[in-house]
Amino acid sequence: MEKIVMYPADNEKDAVNWKDIMGQHITAVRRNILVLGSGGREHALAWKLAQSEGAHVFIAPGNAGTAQVGVNVDIKPSDFEAVKDFCLKEHINLVVVGPEQPLVDGIVDFFKADDALKTVKIIGPDKRGAQLEGSKAFAKDFMQKYGIPTAKCFKVNKDNLAEGCRFLESVKAPYVLKADGLAAGKGVLILNDLQEAKEELAKMLDGKFGAASATVVIEEFLKGIEVSVFVLTDGEHYVLLPEAKDYKRIGDGDQGLNTGGMGAVSPVPFCTPEFLDRVEERIVKPTLQGLKAEHIDYKGFIFLGLMNDGGQPYVIEYNVRMGDPETEAVMTRIEGDFADLLNACAEGRLNEVHYAKSEKTAVTVMMVSGGYPEAYKKGMKMSGLDALKDVVAFHAGTTFDADKEVVTSGGRVIAVTAHGDSIAAARAIAYREVEKIQFDGANYRHDIGLDLMRMQ
Ligand code: AMP
Ligand code: GLY
Repeated sequence: MEKIVMYPADNEKDAVNWKDIMGQHITAVRRNILVLGSGGREHALAWKLAQSEGAHVFIAPGNAGTAQVGVNVDIKPSDFEAVKDFCLKEHINLVVVGPEQPLVDGIVDFFKADDALKTVKIIGPDKRGAQLEGSKAFAKDFMQKYGIPTAKCFKVNKDNLAEGCRFLESVKAPYVLKADGLAAGKGVLILNDLQEAKEELAKMLDGKFGAASATVVIEEFLKGIEVSVFVLTDGEHYVLLPEAKDYKRIGDGDQGLNTGGMGAVSPVPFCTPEFLDRVEERIVKPTLQGLKAEHIDYKGFIFLGLMNDGGQPYVIEYNVRMGDPETEAVMTRIEGDFADLLNACAEGRLNEVHYAKSEKTAVTVMMVSGGYPEAYKKGMKMSGLDALKDVVAFHAGTTFDADKEVVTSGGRVIAVTAHGDSIAAARAIAYREVEKIQFDGANYRHDIGLDLMRMQ
């Protein structure tokens, strides 16, 4: 007879041992996992975690896609008390925080401070660690202190605006202005004209991005090609997850407005072993050493937004979470039990687990609502989802209408990921299937991976 056990949350290792000792008597170990967030990244995380042994995945609040791989829970990630109550009620073993805001707001500190939650593992940095993303000024100071290659910069507030303007005069165009705090991905301006840069700097300090731009970081412009490198660390050890390239502009050929991301490719041909060695030696190791030196207990993802300038990596930004839509490509290339990997991370034993990545290339094409990244309509009926073949479609902005039909509910709607032996092969499948998905106003880029194909 098959028996399902739900082991005590603080005793997972023992539970696995019982299974080994008792062999066929216990055939499954139930692991209750909660993913916080509602986008394509969270669908991809939940999809991967749902394949782990004994995993029961809950997603708060989730979307129409996450409902296919787990149970959506109507809780906002910002409502820490509600998250706590749910974790206790459902005996959650592992919480994976998708977006940055709850981390910056201290969800990990909240969990650590509460005795009732002591046995619930949570993936993500505490509030201090999350400053790597939550404050550009903090991140730049950290990089300078620990010798991590990054663009030269100058921090400005209302008291030293004149010096800020002099710094702008001392660097060449284009001028990069960054709001210190979180500004929903919109806080970076890149301007060609010096006068305009000075004016925008004054506007930012005057509250263009609210409190987030009370301090502005002016940066030297870095040349090169961008890549996203993902690290999972337990504070002592780390693994490099598959890297990816993101396509940020709305239009083909990198034209038009910035978006959350219109597609991704993984692996990235210019991320050679030599380049990745440099990233590890010059960026990953000093970052982890710096975190330790600052007594920041970091168990979670570090997303390095890098510029590759002629083979030399520079940090553009740190994020304390996975990327979106990079995760929709990256998760499909991680082999093995992802919940085991995250458990090992939370328990400080990342060195003990085996982790492998698929050699296949993943290409992800994001379908967006007409008008995005500016005003767009919601509630468009979607068709063609049942006809998809050879791809995984990660929902980003979808929900169910009153008739339980899938409709659009966001700017980025659905990310279609295909695998192939080459970028060309993967993108052919991805685009073939994207054409099957229809909704009023649907838009997507047609050139995801084209630039990298030429390098392959
Ligand atoms: P961030 O929010 O820091 O990632 O900046 C948004 C985007 O602006 C980045 O993905 C880059 O494309 C661009 N960017 C930011 N900083 C620089 C820089 N110093 N040099 C060149 N491009 C930059
Ligand atoms: N795709 C970039 C980001 O997630 O910030």
